[in-house]
Amino acid sequence: MFSLDDLPLARVPLLGGPTAVEPLGADGAWVKREDRAGTRYGGNKVRKLEWLLGEALESGLDVLTLGTVGSNHLVATAVYGQAVGIHVTAVVAPQPDTPTARRNARILHAHAERLYVAGTEASIPFVFARAWAAIRLFGGHAPAVFPVGGSNTLGCIGWVGGGLEIAAQVAAGELPAPDRIYVALGSGGTAAGLLVGLRLGGLMSEVVAVRAAPSWLASPVRVRRLAANTLALLRRHGAPAARLTDLRIVHGEYGPGYARPTAAAEEASARAEGLGLTLESTYTSKAYAAMLAEPGGTRLFLHTANSRPLEPLLATALDEVPASLVGLLRRS
Ligand SMILES: Cc1ncc(COP(=O)(O)O)c(C=O)c1O
Repeated sequence: MFSLDDLPLARVPLLGGPTAVEPLGADGAWVKREDRAGTRYGGNKVRKLEWLLGEALESGLDVLTLGTVGSNHLVATAVYGQAVGIHVTAVVAPQPDTPTARRNARILHAHAERLYVAGTEASIPFVFARAWAAIRLFGGHAPAVFPVGGSNTLGCIGWVGGGLEIAAQVAAGELPAPDRIYVALGSGGTAAGLLVGLRLGGLMSEVVAVRAAPSWLASPVRVRRLAANTLALLRRHGAPAARLTDLRIVHGEYGPGYARPTAAAEEASARAEGLGLTLESTYTSKAYAAMLAEPGGTRLFLHTANSRPLEPLLATALDEVPASLVGLLRRS
């Protein structure tokens, strides 16, 4: 089987080994415990950051990235960046006010080197340009830029690893070959990398990407392009050819908007809690709702939100969302 170990690309070890697969109830549903990935902050960003931070570390660059004020990508990048000694600057944009967003804003503020506030979506390009120029001017070099959600080809390679890992777990008899794998869809890197990794690992499970972000970001075109570009990069380094078929995007669970609750997601979250899984409202409860709506066959749910204890990360955080960020939490 193709292995990422042979790639001539820098990687910083953050994952701490394969994440477990466990049965979920008794009707053919399984869960992959990505929520416990890494040592500091779990979830689907850890695999991406092994490669993104690996390259930044190798080239000695500070990092500039962007996202909403409650973004898991921003928290994970700031936390792991600090852990490996990289300065992380982030441009933060508005989002709906949720308990997770409030908590993430506090952790982000405590771990990022510097935050630039973009008070409206329209101002993001200008604030981003200002942040980039400041790093260039005062840091002496241009930063390594991580896109929204860490979803570029390098970030996708992390999830190629996730797909290969599931294929290896099936081969080792840890779970039956899934008919369908459910994953929340935001910036697309997780679903795209997963698709490539599964196919390179010889597994033909359908990838069901459940849209949890606006369609300009979470689009089928974007996922397919990311997957094709990632496979093309790996092919240049000896990966075999693979057909990137059986990807399906579910739009019906998104509801009224980003981070807005839906009745189906709330119901799914309560049912997951009954099985010992804690989901958050923006991504994982919507993906789980999609899986519940399609019973039958062997189904694997990727639990992509952190479940590692947050006390160590909150220990250095302010008790409330800092005044500079609180205006980004929008009520409607
Ligand atoms: C908890 C969680 N699940 C899933 C996703 C979606 O991942 P991607 O942006 O790679 O599509 C995100 C993205 O931020 C996330 O925070």
